[in-house]
Amino acid sequence: MKAFWALVAVLLLPSEAVVARAPRTRRELAPGLHERGIRDAGGSYCQRHDACCSGRDDECTVPYLDTICYCDLFCNRTVSDCCPDFWEYCLGIEPPLSVQKACIRNGFKFPAGATYRDNCNLCTCHGNGQWVCEDHACLINGDMMDAVNRGNYGWRASNYSQFWGMTLDEGIQYRLGTIKPPTSVMNMNELQMNMDENDVLPSYFNAADKWSGMIHEPLDQGNCAGSWAFSTAAVASDRISIHSMGHMTPALSPQNLLSCNTRHQQGCNGGRIDGAWWFLRRRGVVTDECYPFSNQETNHSPNAPACMMHSRSTGRGKRQAIARCPNPRSHANEIYQSTPAYRLSSNEKEIMKELMENGPVQAILEVHEDFFMYRTGIYRHTAVAAGKPEQYRRHGTHSVKITGWGEEQMPDGSNQKYWIAANSWGKDWGEHGYFRITRGENECEIETFVVGVWGRVGMEDMHHHKK
Ligand SMILES: *[C@@H]1O[C@H](CO)[C@@H](O)[C@H](O)[C@H]1NC(C)=O
Ligand SMILES: *[C@@H]1O[C@H](CO)[C@@H](O)[C@H](O)[C@H]1NC(C)=O
Repeated sequence: MKAFWALVAVLLLPSEAVVARAPRTRRELAPGLHERGIRDAGGSYCQRHDACCSGRDDECTVPYLDTICYCDLFCNRTVSDCCPDFWEYCLGIEPPLSVQKACIRNGFKFPAGATYRDNCNLCTCHGNGQWVCEDHACLINGDMMDAVNRGNYGWRASNYSQFWGMTLDEGIQYRLGTIKPPTSVMNMNELQMNMDENDVLPSYFNAADKWSGMIHEPLDQGNCAGSWAFSTAAVASDRISIHSMGHMTPALSPQNLLSCNTRHQQGCNGGRIDGAWWFLRRRGVVTDECYPFSNQETNHSPNAPACMMHSRSTGRGKRQAIARCPNPRSHANEIYQSTPAYRLSSNEKEIMKELMENGPVQAILEVHEDFFMYRTGIYRHTAVAAGKPEQYRRHGTHSVKITGWGEEQMPDGSNQKYWIAANSWGKDWGEHGYFRITRGENECEIETFVVGVWGRVGMEDMHHHKK
């Protein structure tokens, strides 16, 4: 029992001590205004309101930033809620706290902690009056853009608002999305082509001229690293249109591949083109209208959109959709399939012959930092980032659709051969969504892994699909 009362006494003592003290006011409990030093040290507060109150005067306040500060002597007790100019104006002494200097930008003062964005870098006002900015390499780099445009490289660079504010690493991470095929696939048998020494290939060829109305426009993958699905859908769309002689001209759905071709594939985080072709052959995909590309940003999340299209065999390798179109306004859920894709040799002439006879081909491309800024001309990777730190020199694997070739006289008089290729960065990138790139030199590995395919087109398709 004694022990119990002793415990009670111990518990009571401290609280009694508190009660004995003077009651605390809200003012004393208020968090300090100057916890991290005085903000807006140059501002005039007590002075502007001609307020210097002696003793304690809780009414002696003036507005300060988004709160109030005091100009009475009581504020000196805690120093925390005095106006910044209290000491100097009312007491004629230096403030006892460290002073935070404002940062200046465009003629305006900003307090410590203020931020602004400079392209892909966040700048913060430090208390010493200095802005300190992050040091990321940006996807659009003004210096490199100018260096390309001054350098007479045969192509011109420009700013793209959709890339402005992104870091180079984000560009590599979100705008490409093809995983290099493993060596086993790289070594897959090349198609043996009977190239006749006398085969004459024209100096200019554009699939859009030969197969008018059957070559689909460049796509836009947004910030979805799914070029594996976009380039495959793009090549398959053109090839099916060509091989059906225009009886069917489906624009195939990249989203169908992104969401449903999930075995060993990572949707908007990258995938392999050999896997995509396997899917097109064995499962097939619907049109883009039936299964539209969904919001770019949400595709990144670990819960990528679930597959909303399924098909079943109808015999002889053909398949039929067993789900409605995810787009409720579209009822055309035909499944389109291809035959097995084949690899072409890296020989420029063989690629040209295949392109001219059978239609656009798919190519893997190593994308470097300067390619994002390509606007027009014949691209060749430049050394404009050579002198810069390593973080400015980045590359990643992409895939595109080659649709033609040509030659052009360069400023130095030389003749430059090029490929014409469709990218998947929208139609306002490059030359209306296309780019031209040096041909015959395996520039950025564009001739390393080139793929063709046949659409699976039966006689019945020739009759049924004509719109
Ligand atoms: C106010 O505070 C400063 C710094 O703590 C001190 O030097 C000064 O004497 C104080 N003034 C009064 C009037 O208490
Ligand atoms: C690039 O474009 C963005 C937005 O479209 C603009 O804010 C920025 O100033 C431009 N940058 C350069 C270097 O031209």
